[in-house]
Amino acid sequence: MYFSGFFVVFSWSITTILCDTIPDYVYYCTGNCNKPVTTQTHPGLILMGGGTDVDAAFIQQIEWSGCGDFLVLRSDNDDKYDRYVYNLDCANSAATIWVRNRDGANNPNVTDYINGAEAIFFAGSNNLKKFTKKKKKRPAAVKRGVPIGGTSAGCDIQSYFIYSATNGSVNSPEALADPYNKLMTFAGYFLIQGDDNILNNTIIDTHFVTRDRFGRLITFVARIRTDAGGRKLLKTSGTYQLCAYMYQLDLGKGLPIKGIGINEQTAFAIDLETGLAQVLGPVDTSEAYLLMPSHDPEVCEPLTPLTYKNVNVQKVKPGYVQRVACSYVCIRICFFFINRYSSLQLIYKLTLLSLPLFCNSDVFNFRTWTGGESSRNYDVSYINGVPQEDPYN
Ligand SMILES: *[C@@H]1O[C@H](CO)[C@@H](O)[C@H](O)[C@H]1NC(C)=O
Ligand SMILES: *[C@@H]1O[C@H](CO)[C@@H](O)[C@H](O)[C@H]1NC(C)=O
Ligand SMILES: *[C@@H]1O[C@H](CO)[C@@H](O)[C@H](O)[C@H]1NC(C)=O
Repeated sequence: MYFSGFFVVFSWSITTILCDTIPDYVYYCTGNCNKPVTTQTHPGLILMGGGTDVDAAFIQQIEWSGCGDFLVLRSDNDDKYDRYVYNLDCANSAATIWVRNRDGANNPNVTDYINGAEAIFFAGSNNLKKFTKKKKKRPAAVKRGVPIGGTSAGCDIQSYFIYSATNGSVNSPEALADPYNKLMTFAGYFLIQGDDNILNNTIIDTHFVTRDRFGRLITFVARIRTDAGGRKLLKTSGTYQLCAYMYQLDLGKGLPIKGIGINEQTAFAIDLETGLAQVLGPVDTSEAYLLMPSHDPEVCEPLTPLTYKNVNVQKVKPGYVQRVACSYVCIRICFFFINRYSSLQLIYKLTLLSLPLFCNSDVFNFRTWTGGESSRNYDVSYINGVPQEDPYN
């Protein structure tokens, strides 16, 4: 009796000590962190394909935030975005929350930070997809129409369906050889933008050309088109750390699913008021692919290589204009001082002029699924898992 009482108290103390020293979230902030602002925001979506960050896309998101408070959500411990974002343009502050676990995702303080932000960005991370949030309410920040962005896995989670990779990551040859192999795991998400989500019925893949993912994306599309005619809420799984609802894939056929393949150093900046997206990034490496099949796959069965003929593809690229010209010009007066840790700290920043420059990149309309150069529109066929032409064209 006494012994077990002691044991309970003892383990309670240990737990308390551990819980006090290991918080479920960690908050970092640069800039005017004690003076948050409330600005007029413009709804937009930044979809970034991983690798080197695209400055122009961050600048666009900061501009859409009305120079407000920029918040990065991530599941690993790194606050490198704070200084980068703060010094890039006119953000009032740039903060990162390291969400360490599911409790962190559900912590009311984290919800408050999200609700106070004028821009939200999901950093890439392998763990990102596994944190879910219990509450099903969409945060006020999202309802306010704040611009949302993400790169790599943080971009993948923006689409309606996601490749969850819960059994490990699949490569193109493995996916094509057997569209039902055990690495082909999906989840349905209803993230952020709600029912009129511009990314309704899409699945995104990132690091697209760098990791040769055309074969796996076309197989994802084929699988979801074959299996996911309807969606059913998985009550037990709750939501993603921000506000995604998770759905189980129902059986059914013919969903008008579309694939979005985004290469590294490439970003779509989608204006949610118009549905128009600019392609941003350095001209030589940036490209994205929109897979828009109009029919079911010919063969999408277990243990059988995929056959999917004449899938329409629109390739999009930034224009010939240099990356710097695809950005904004900012002239600033900066005051620095040396703080007591002898590091240079920016204490005041005034943006005098911020002009968008002419940028000749491809424009794609995500409402109508049209746009881009007609010369970059083509069909791709895979027969018995083998592409009949260069899918990247
Ligand atoms: C929320 O933040 C406050 C102030 O930093 C802190 O005292 C409190 O413990 C936090 N609450 C939770 C649930 O983490
Ligand atoms: C994941 O792998 C396990 C073990 O191989 C398997 O039982 C399970 O069905 C796989 N999940 C999916 C969705 O294929
Ligand atoms: C989203 O897709 C589903 C399934 O195709 C469809 O029923 C629904 O109307 C779509 N929503 C919008 C806003 O297009």
